[in-house]
Amino acid sequence: MTAVVRTVAFAGIEVLPVEVQVAISNGLPSFTIVGLPDKAVAESRERVRAALTAIGLGLPPKRITINLAPADVQKEGSHFDLPIALGVLTAMGVVPLEEMNGYVALGELGLNGSLAPVAGVLPAAIAANAEDRGLICPGAQGGEAAWAGGAGVLAPRSLLELINHFKGGGGVLSAPQPAPIPEPPSVPDLKDIKGQETAKRALEIAAAGGHNILMMGPPGAGKSMLAQRLPGLLPPMTAAEALEVSMIHSVAGQLAGNAIVRHRPFRDPHHSASTPALVGGGLRAKPGEISLAHRGVLFLDELPEFNRQALEALRQPLETGKVVVARANSHAAYPARFQLVAAMNPCRCGYLGDPQLACSKAPKCAEDYQNKISGPMFDRIDLHIDVPPVDPLDLSMPPPKEDSAAVAQRVAKARAIQVARFKTERAEHVTCNAEADGELLEKIASPDTDGRALLTQAAERMRLSARGYHRILRVARTIADLEGAPSVKRAHIAEALSYRRVMPGRGLN
Ligand SMILES: Nc1ncnc2c1ncn2[C@@H]1O[C@H](COP(=O)(O)OP(=O)(O)O)[C@@H](O)[C@H]1O
Ligand SMILES: [Mg+2]
Repeated sequence: MTAVVRTVAFAGIEVLPVEVQVAISNGLPSFTIVGLPDKAVAESRERVRAALTAIGLGLPPKRITINLAPADVQKEGSHFDLPIALGVLTAMGVVPLEEMNGYVALGELGLNGSLAPVAGVLPAAIAANAEDRGLICPGAQGGEAAWAGGAGVLAPRSLLELINHFKGGGGVLSAPQPAPIPEPPSVPDLKDIKGQETAKRALEIAAAGGHNILMMGPPGAGKSMLAQRLPGLLPPMTAAEALEVSMIHSVAGQLAGNAIVRHRPFRDPHHSASTPALVGGGLRAKPGEISLAHRGVLFLDELPEFNRQALEALRQPLETGKVVVARANSHAAYPARFQLVAAMNPCRCGYLGDPQLACSKAPKCAEDYQNKISGPMFDRIDLHIDVPPVDPLDLSMPPPKEDSAAVAQRVAKARAIQVARFKTERAEHVTCNAEADGELLEKIASPDTDGRALLTQAAERMRLSARGYHRILRVARTIADLEGAPSVKRAHIAEALSYRRVMPGRGLN
């Protein structure tokens, strides 16, 4: 007899329905899986065989053929164990076929028949819900599946528990409750930073307009401190954003506490991270750090130390807000709309410009060091600031009065202005100034006569590229929004111009 059990495959964070078809026929005993399985799926065979033996249900000595349909979709991951085992059990008549019809199943089997957590339970639960089916997932992830809101979630801890549930008329397993949201990560406060007024102002502008920011300064100046405080200035995520972020984290197998992600992510990968770890992909398709930072902050400390290929791979996602990684015979796209905060020393030793500390190779070494970052990469960063060493006088002062909450309030106001403006411009897909470009940007950030005169003059003198020109407009628009000013004036343009820096050997950036 042929049995069918429904499960899913993932293409990016998209869920594709997959059917596990099982046929048991007379013939030489065998157990074959067909339908583009990867290595983990092929290994399923051994886990399913061992798990069934462990619960006292040996495989029948017949010819067992498993087809994962549609055959042209690549099947990756270990979550096919459970649906394959259920397919075999259904074909053997242990589990009733009509029961299996109402479910989508995924989970990894241990050799003793236990069920281990897998990636992607949340999107699978949402997909199952959409087609009016329940979800069968590993016991540890019932709380994650329950967030999808569907009624029929079964979260057994082992295969045996699931069989007993079906045999016992469906009363053994109770529906899991959504897992409680974990305590918010403690975000440090801006109050801890003494002095550094320019850098704090730039950070506020970055938060208000969603701009990428690059901080350059000697070691110990407080660059990392500043970066860690950015999430505390950003407005909370909308429900839709939180769901989107949670789906990515689920597919990556990194959903903390099995609950929806409510707080903007802050990711700070080490500079030794490989390209797949950073942008996604690799042997098993997984979202990378840039996707885990979706709707949050990606902090790249010591930017020039990252491998060049990895940095260049960031260019496309910085522009489009998503990353497309190549698979064996297809592509997977992951959302990656993150705010980049990059920090770097001005040169390898870090003390360029300090005659007492700088090494003997200065200033030539600075040029080499900074040239490790390509022009197009710099081009995608709206704000460039110098973070000088903190003044000892500032350190001995009492902490500043203004805390992150006060700044976050101004940021929220500026963001609300932007959202309303993009709505009237019928460009709802744009959420902040940093995402505005081309015609839309020219329209919303057109400066007054004085402002335009200053910008034209500066553009000529500094030989600004078209991209550079637009960056100034974008930042100036955010500065005006922070002030609540309807139009972009000369002062806004002037401040925006101050967040550009001269690169050694490369002119103004
Ligand atoms: N403006 C500042 N106010 C108070 N402490 C500071 C300041 N700048 C630096 N520090 C101290 O110096 C340490 C190093 O700062 P860090 O942010 O790691 O520097 P960087 O990343 O620029 O090398 C911090 O942990 C903090 O104790
Ligand atoms: Mg640092």
